[in-house]
Amino acid sequence: MESITFRRPVDLHVHFRDGAILDAVVPFTARQFARAIVMPNLSPPVTTAAMAQAYRQRILAAVPDGLDFTPMMTCYLTDQTDVADLLAGYRDGIFAAAKLYPAHATTNAQFGVTSIAALDPVFVAMADAGMPLLTHGELVRHDVDIFDREQCFLDEVLAPLLERHPTLRLVLEHITTSEGAAFATRYGSRVAATITPQHLLYNRNALFEGGLRPHLYCLPILKRQHHQSALRAAATSGLPNFFLGTDTAPHMRELKEAACGCAGVFSAPVAVQAYLSVFDQEAALDKFEAFAALNGPAFYGFAPAERQVTYVRQLHAVEPSLSVENDEIVPLFGGGSVDWTLRQQV
Ligand code: NCD
Ligand code: ZN
Repeated sequence: MESITFRRPVDLHVHFRDGAILDAVVPFTARQFARAIVMPNLSPPVTTAAMAQAYRQRILAAVPDGLDFTPMMTCYLTDQTDVADLLAGYRDGIFAAAKLYPAHATTNAQFGVTSIAALDPVFVAMADAGMPLLTHGELVRHDVDIFDREQCFLDEVLAPLLERHPTLRLVLEHITTSEGAAFATRYGSRVAATITPQHLLYNRNALFEGGLRPHLYCLPILKRQHHQSALRAAATSGLPNFFLGTDTAPHMRELKEAACGCAGVFSAPVAVQAYLSVFDQEAALDKFEAFAALNGPAFYGFAPAERQVTYVRQLHAVEPSLSVENDEIVPLFGGGSVDWTLRQQV
């Protein structure tokens, strides 16, 4: 196949940050995607409908003229979440979902939830309203190995949570293990999962190839090869439980290449191309549209994009970095190339 045409895709998991970084990164997502689900882990986090509405305006102001792009906002759950504001925000179309960060699990998760069971009244209200819960699925405890955090979270936290709330709808964000993929299908249509390009492309060896690779460090961390294979099988399965969520997470180079580096891979400039090469390698390009443009909208309950895009098989150089203020952000494949190019839209 020398070209592929599909409905404009949707990125169900992005980090846009704020200020100068937001202005620099939003155009990359807006060029390739019709919509995106925007993560709320700013500092301070987006915890109210009013904050989400203001953040949405700042994102829209960074979308280049002529591009049709819809950001969809999420609420950062905390120990103090105001259920009335959360539900009003959902009913008014400001919030598409709420995000659960266990305290200290990842970037800006210091504001996260310390006791998940204590949030049960919030989950009851969300289940009644049909509002999806998005989870950063890692159990962070000193006796749990970093490579086992996802599986422990599924067993110890999420399975009981789903039992306590039999109608709650859930997205496991950025799954990284075979157990995560199996979990997403076990509950039928009420549980789904996003999968990032880096977890499809790499396993944990890539973190240490020839030396330490800070630009591939993200959370949840890359896992063993058999997990990578399970994720590739899940993404290309055509099952409605799996959809595209890049987890594009820009950090300044200075903060990535540091004694204590930040977690996150900035994939927005090459996201669609990265997924396409995986589906191509798996001989599953016929399943790409479902993963990238249909399954996510179906789960969230909005219409897929009407317009289509075409990518052609054509080598395309990737900029080594993106200048932002006095620093830069290094993208996935920075200084390398991708096999697919977005055909100029007329
Ligand atoms: C994300 C970030 O930097 O905001 N980092 C990451 O490694 N994925 C947070 C997250 O999604 O865990
Ligand atoms: Zn994320």
